[in-house]
Amino acid sequence: MDKTNLASVEPHVAAHYAHGDLEGEILKALAASGKDISQLVPVDLAPVDEFHTAGRLATIDLAAQLHFAPGMHLLDIGCGIGGASRFFAQERGCRVTGIDLTDDYVRAAAAFSRRFGLDGQLAYRQASALALPFEAGAFDGAYMLHVGMNIADKPRLFTEARRVLKPGAEFALFDVMRTDWSELRYPVPWAATSATSFVASPADYRKVLEAAGFEVLGERGRREFARNFFREMAAKNASNGGPPPLGIHILMKTEGQQKIANYVANLDAGLIAPVEMICRAR
Ligand SMILES: C[S@@+](CC[C@H](N)C(=O)[O-])C[C@H]1O[C@@H](n2cnc3c(N)ncnc32)[C@H](O)[C@@H]1O
Repeated sequence: MDKTNLASVEPHVAAHYAHGDLEGEILKALAASGKDISQLVPVDLAPVDEFHTAGRLATIDLAAQLHFAPGMHLLDIGCGIGGASRFFAQERGCRVTGIDLTDDYVRAAAAFSRRFGLDGQLAYRQASALALPFEAGAFDGAYMLHVGMNIADKPRLFTEARRVLKPGAEFALFDVMRTDWSELRYPVPWAATSATSFVASPADYRKVLEAAGFEVLGERGRREFARNFFREMAAKNASNGGPPPLGIHILMKTEGQQKIANYVANLDAGLIAPVEMICRAR
């Protein structure tokens, strides 16, 4: 596969995440966990709707470093099923537009946001991060959580992000990055094989972000945070006799436990780390 060719990579990435009736499956899992699905609130979805390392905990930590304020219009690049967008709408009073390559995720994001009456603040559309369907300077801020690992063309990714932001706007990212170049174990949660995995180093990110017109204000590696999170999750699963009905294994469809185990092994071996970067559009 030509890794630089969007037409050959993006359909494979979308197929990796595609998932028939995601809303129905999540509602079933909520019911199996004892929730009354007629009385759901957004936080009930937290175990499943934030498909990045440590889920909502990580979003809260990232948000604490940002100045996203009520009424701001944010862009969520690769929004998945919309957990982080609902967090910024509810907790920060922002409007959020989410884009994602995977149509099934966009539909689930919109369905859940409607169900919670947040559709006045939230909008979603299927689109590529490499061709954002928005005017220059349309957004007051943006964030991207665990998406860059699927995108080879980071210069184009960050040039697009910069184009749609106002000068001075914050752009936060939280991606899995390379800290060593030995072979990774696959499958991992974002890719079945190396053909759709483009994990870059923090130094590469910084270089490309700066060249695209961002100032990188802060960087924080979160490997130990991630390892603790997975250790606690494993201990909880062991004492409960297996994973709970509601979790990101639903989004991963097949080999969920293997993907997580390989991710943790890659973390433990020091090959990768989830890293936050806080940037400002120049
Ligand atoms: C691991 S999930 C993270 C989803 C979400 N950010 C979250 O934290 O819950 C990665 C997401 O990136 C999306 N994605 C991958 N490549 C993309 C691209 N080129 N443009 C837009 N979305 C993309 C996938 O469809 C998937 O929803």
